[in-house]
Amino acid sequence: MQKKIGIIGCGTIGHELSFAIDNSSVENAALVFLFDTITTASLSLKDSLINNNPATFSNFSDLISSKQFRMADIVVEAASQEAVRAYAKKIVLSDKSLMIMSTGALSDSHLVHALYNAATKHDGHIYVPTGAIAGIDAICSVRHLLDFVMLTTTKNPKSLAGAPYFNLRKTKPESIKKKTLLYDGNAIDAATMFPSNINVAMVLSLAGRGARNTRVRVIADPRATRNEHKITAIGKFGEISIMVRNVPSPSNPRTSFLASLSAIECLRRMCGNKIRIGT
Ligand SMILES: NC(=O)c1ccc[n+]([C@@H]2O[C@H](COP(=O)([O-])OP(=O)(O)OC[C@H]3O[C@@H](n4cnc5c(N)ncnc54)[C@H](O)[C@@H]3O)[C@@H](O)[C@H]2O)c1
Repeated sequence: MQKKIGIIGCGTIGHELSFAIDNSSVENAALVFLFDTITTASLSLKDSLINNNPATFSNFSDLISSKQFRMADIVVEAASQEAVRAYAKKIVLSDKSLMIMSTGALSDSHLVHALYNAATKHDGHIYVPTGAIAGIDAICSVRHLLDFVMLTTTKNPKSLAGAPYFNLRKTKPESIKKKTLLYDGNAIDAATMFPSNINVAMVLSLAGRGARNTRVRVIADPRATRNEHKITAIGKFGEISIMVRNVPSPSNPRTSFLASLSAIECLRRMCGNKIRIGT
């Protein structure tokens, strides 16, 4: 049966997902609404679609009282951590399945528990795609056997611009002229220092040993042309070493192209792929 999809956030990932639905790269799916606080963002995305005619919203109250929201089976959040904090629970309580891309918001364990409780009492599921990394299936499989998990993220300083780290340290991304280790600590503090760059750390934490027990290193490299993530995991199962070098999206250097592709693949599974490859 065809799934009805609504998208919150009409930026880089929202565009890629909408096009994938519109050109049937995701089968059995129809786009019923687009929501963005910037009205022109949803309207221009809608205009660029050929086969779908979603309703557009710029206000969450209007959205949740609409017939398009009631019709939706799946809501995709591709907006911001603030959007997850403000809307996620209400969406799950409305019996919708929810895909969360702004996984940095899940560094708040109270929010995670609230969402978990809401989902267990209602029909929908919560999906957290692998995003801009690989190997999360393996980390989940060995979760109970892990002794050590570390993520090393290396990005061009431009991709880290806007992070609170720079204000806190009274420095600027442009002043970094050589490869520099900016942060080495747990994933909770990393989420405070680099909230827009911490999605991978949170997915890894949720899959493995939790944010407090996941070591994160953030390296700025002015010569980096890709967003690099390296996972090292050690435990009684052996050792996992994963390296991903992502092409940044042209419209948003903080977002790797792989993140959009991962969201699209997750949606394919949610819309009923009959053969599932991988764990
Ligand atoms: N899980 C991952 O691996 C991963 C990877 C990359 C990006 N992300 C996250 O996914 C999200 C989307 O990324 P993007 O590159 O598409 O961002 P983007 O900046 O290109 O687009 C975000 C859009 O959401 C809208 N928006 C923001 N807050 C909103 C709100 N509260 N309500 C409604 N609309 C709102 C903005 O106006 C914007 O149009 C970001 O939070 C980003 O950090 C996750």
